Amino acid sequence: MNKKGHVIPRDFKKKMSKAVRAEGIYIYDDEGKGYIDGCSGALISSVGHCIPEVIEAVHKQMQTLNFAHPSRWRNTATEEAAAAIAEITPGDLNYVWFVSGGSEAIESAIKITRQYFIERDGPGSSKHLIAARWNSYHGATLGTMAVAGNMSRRRIFAPMFKEHPKIPAHYCYRCSYKLEYPVCNLPCAHELENLIQREGADNVAAFIAEPIVGSTVGALVPPDEYWPLIRDICSRYDVILIADEIMTGIGRTGKAFCVDHWDVVPDIIASAKGMASGYIPTGGIFVKEAIAETIKKGSGHFQHGYTYNANPVSAAAVSAVLRYIKKNNLIENARIQGELLGEEMARLKAVPIVGELRGKGLMRGVEIVADRETRKPFPRSLGASGAVTAECIKRGLVVYPSGGMVNGVEGDNFLVAPPLIVTEDQVREIAGILERALYAASDTLLKADNA
Ligand SMILES: Cc1ncc(COP(=O)(O)O)c(C=O)c1O
Repeated sequence: MNKKGHVIPRDFKKKMSKAVRAEGIYIYDDEGKGYIDGCSGALISSVGHCIPEVIEAVHKQMQTLNFAHPSRWRNTATEEAAAAIAEITPGDLNYVWFVSGGSEAIESAIKITRQYFIERDGPGSSKHLIAARWNSYHGATLGTMAVAGNMSRRRIFAPMFKEHPKIPAHYCYRCSYKLEYPVCNLPCAHELENLIQREGADNVAAFIAEPIVGSTVGALVPPDEYWPLIRDICSRYDVILIADEIMTGIGRTGKAFCVDHWDVVPDIIASAKGMASGYIPTGGIFVKEAIAETIKKGSGHFQHGYTYNANPVSAAAVSAVLRYIKKNNLIENARIQGELLGEEMARLKAVPIVGELRGKGLMRGVEIVADRETRKPFPRSLGASGAVTAECIKRGLVVYPSGGMVNGVEGDNFLVAPPLIVTEDQVREIAGILERALYAASDTLLKADNA
């Protein structure tokens, strides 16, 4: 028997280069070719790759205290990281529960919500439903997939979990109500109230959504009234508002948190990716005092836990990343360079397959269509977002493709989201590559679609 270990890749059939080195906004393959990491991995590398200050902080923590099980020990590194996070969270979201990634953060947000109502109202509390939206992604675990509404990712697992109720997303380009903003008066937001009334406010525990939709609809920005309206509905019906800022958090959109654009304070923010910038797997939920203190004064014990909760090495990375962001004014840089990226990308509108350009700060998205008049998507078989990505990669730029948002199968988009350290020249270079790659993909895709 040939006994040899193998990695299970994301896709056995996809040919991928090997990454061997990274620096700043660049990533290099094993042939020495450099690529601009134009999507920060998947909106992770907030401060860029291999930054010495972050590496040193992690290294120092590893030499001092690499691990102490969270059921028995407190540690200074997590206490310092929690204090640094509380400096930038809105309102009184001052309690932090550290985990290892986004899915764990969302699971934790769901479980702390349920426990909060049990502790507050007694064991008979029926508040258990987590309302969400179609065209959403909140993680890869069965619990998070039950809540989310991304068809392509959930379809084969759906028989295994309990469904939670959903409303349509604010997808104005393909409005579920066939209306136009602003005369529509946002039925997509008011639908949350209908949902709560239908299910019963006694049963609905929370509503979860991304403030700007990331991978599923490609940087979909809501109308300005959307989040204040959602906040108001949740408050009136005693429903916890969970902002999934796994992608949008920690400066990505030009504010510390994306909800800050509308001065909305959710009850819980879940964050991950940019929090430790990919140096160490990390995530967390930032919880308002009333929730944490209800548990503190009640049972005192959050009925949940992971081996890597409150890991000191992850916490050291979080503190170092936040220090680096503050010292280099990177949230402001995300705003300034993000605006420039939006302006530079505006000329992509001339490319025949560009349906809509979306986004805020350094989180930009492009929806690709076969016909701009009718907004018809390309057939799935053409793999349009993959084709655009391949053209970008050929020219040394990595972007983040996704799809399926039109009807669960069709629809193509991709995200452009370079690290927050990106410079003006690099932004212009990214936009130039995008333009050339999109024109090339446009020719091939339109020919294939008309064949
Ligand atoms: C909005 C959102 N929520 C949750 C997750 C899950 O995070 P992770 O992959 O770290 O488990 C992701 C990951 O892409 C995400 O984009």
